[in-house]
Amino acid sequence: MKASEIRQAFLEFFQKNGHTIVKSSSVIPHDDPTLLFTNAGMVQFKRTFLGEERRRYSRATTSQKCMRAGGKHNDLENVGRTARHHTFFEMLGNFSFGDYFKEDAVKFAWEFLTEVLGLPKDKLYATIHEGDREMNLGPDEEAHAYWSRYLPDDRILTFPTKDNFWSMGDTGPCGPCSEILIDQGPGIGCGRPDCKPGCDCDRYLELWNLVFMQFNRSKEGSLAPLPKPSIDTGMGLERIAAVLQKVPSNYDTDIFVPMMARIEQLTGHKYGASAEKDVSFKVIADHSRSAAFLIGDGALPGNEGRGYVLRRVIRRALRHGRFLGLNRPFLSEVAQAVMESMQDAYPELLENRSFITRVIQNEEERFNDTLDNGLKLLQTEIKRLSDEKAGTIPGSLIFKLYDTYGFPIDIITDMSRDSGFQVDEAGFHDLMQKQRDQSRAAWKGSGDREIPEAIRQLSARGISTDFLGYETTQADSEIIAMISGGEEIGSASEGMEVELITASTPFYGASGGQVGDRGVITGATGKITVLDTLKLPGNLLVHAGKIETGALHVADPVHLVVDAQLRKDTEIHHTATHILHAVLRQVLGDHVKQAGSLVAPDRLRFDFSHFSAMTP
Ligand code: ALA
Repeated sequence: MKASEIRQAFLEFFQKNGHTIVKSSSVIPHDDPTLLFTNAGMVQFKRTFLGEERRRYSRATTSQKCMRAGGKHNDLENVGRTARHHTFFEMLGNFSFGDYFKEDAVKFAWEFLTEVLGLPKDKLYATIHEGDREMNLGPDEEAHAYWSRYLPDDRILTFPTKDNFWSMGDTGPCGPCSEILIDQGPGIGCGRPDCKPGCDCDRYLELWNLVFMQFNRSKEGSLAPLPKPSIDTGMGLERIAAVLQKVPSNYDTDIFVPMMARIEQLTGHKYGASAEKDVSFKVIADHSRSAAFLIGDGALPGNEGRGYVLRRVIRRALRHGRFLGLNRPFLSEVAQAVMESMQDAYPELLENRSFITRVIQNEEERFNDTLDNGLKLLQTEIKRLSDEKAGTIPGSLIFKLYDTYGFPIDIITDMSRDSGFQVDEAGFHDLMQKQRDQSRAAWKGSGDREIPEAIRQLSARGISTDFLGYETTQADSEIIAMISGGEEIGSASEGMEVELITASTPFYGASGGQVGDRGVITGATGKITVLDTLKLPGNLLVHAGKIETGALHVADPVHLVVDAQLRKDTEIHHTATHILHAVLRQVLGDHVKQAGSLVAPDRLRFDFSHFSAMTP
């Protein structure tokens, strides 16, 4: 089966079993400040698992664009060296939101693998969670019982939390999991006589992870039960394609043929002819996919966060291009092969083709300049060190060249050795490790506003607000909840700062870049000045302000009045944003996409991506 046929068969199988096929979400999780990249299929459903967002279906299936290069799940350094690792990959998944649980998750997975894909039953294994005293969890006997319907006891194995407990990140939905492995036979992998499931090698290959979502991990690390036990599963498309196509590595599947062919054409080398060159082939193929998808979803190379990862990925590919003898820009050409071969499943690639191409080209040119500057610095330093009769290039210089100039370490060592110098590699690696620790610690989120826990709880309880603001700026309603200092309260008195929720409201909650409405809310015994209105998932509108006079209580009837002049001024700027967007597309081109905006009563700001500075 071709990868595209596997993808199709998977989605159809689950659709037939009552699942709604949902489109992949962006690989940039625009609305989740806690996450660097979409790293699993469940990311777009995070709030549904938490009970904060309701959907019209309780079963879903997706093929999700994923990126694992930074944050909790990071495979960047492994790419090229193994048969299986990718930065970008596709995850096939099925999800239950409080619908079926372990029994059906196991049954569906077994049926799909053995009946639809026809994998040999006697080569399959399942792993289950052995329990964890700290989490107050016993061994997963339930999962064991369901697997016993299909597998003999000696092919159901128990593993600790490190292997069989999955979480999205440091916080968020998580739970014990069960993995399905396939024995590819002694010809594949380490070949050691004691090789067994759990071995790092590829013989017992993990195919599919079934997560029994049960908890939400808080920032402090404690586990709270989810509103309903749920299912999240993930199977890497590239892996299952390799198994079905009986090839030794994901990079030998039909998915990568077009990229490998393009690299062969560009370099004159053959993929598969040299183990060392194959590493470079794989890195370039993998990274060109990441670059195309990340840029297509709105990331741009930069110096921090997501942009920095994208820049690293592109530079790493360019470096490997040099190993294959490519000293001119080439990556955007490999990216063409990505876009052409993936366009059916992900049409957004073609829509953004010219933009993706130009961003990669720009970055390649920049990198070449960087290399030239780094070379000059290195030559100056080598001369200075020779004058001082030093014999070693210090680790700090290598680090500076590598980190600040993006200079390939191999070129530095080669040049240094050619000039008769030793290289302080240990010192360099120490600095690298420090930097990795720092960058892990530095990603604190994208800066979007975090929602206080007490308010999240309200949406989890199903509390929502009717928005009346398209028709009117004044209305009557009643207070249904109030929060102050992070705690839910029953009444609030003069001077207190509160977040107040009413059954319906004419106040517009900040969203899509437009600021929230201001105004006043008056009850029989008191009055609050609203300074901002927030819109939270699940249509919850929250008025934030200060009690001006008297006191207000939950269940009080109130009269809500929006400051109509401010609203009007804001509306004008909102309209202006759309006009500006249209005009920018006319003048600069269709690649102009809104990346963010601020629409306020007194001004507007419009963020978009373009390759170079605009003319005045
Ligand atoms: N979310 C689970 C994983 O990524 C399925 O392994």
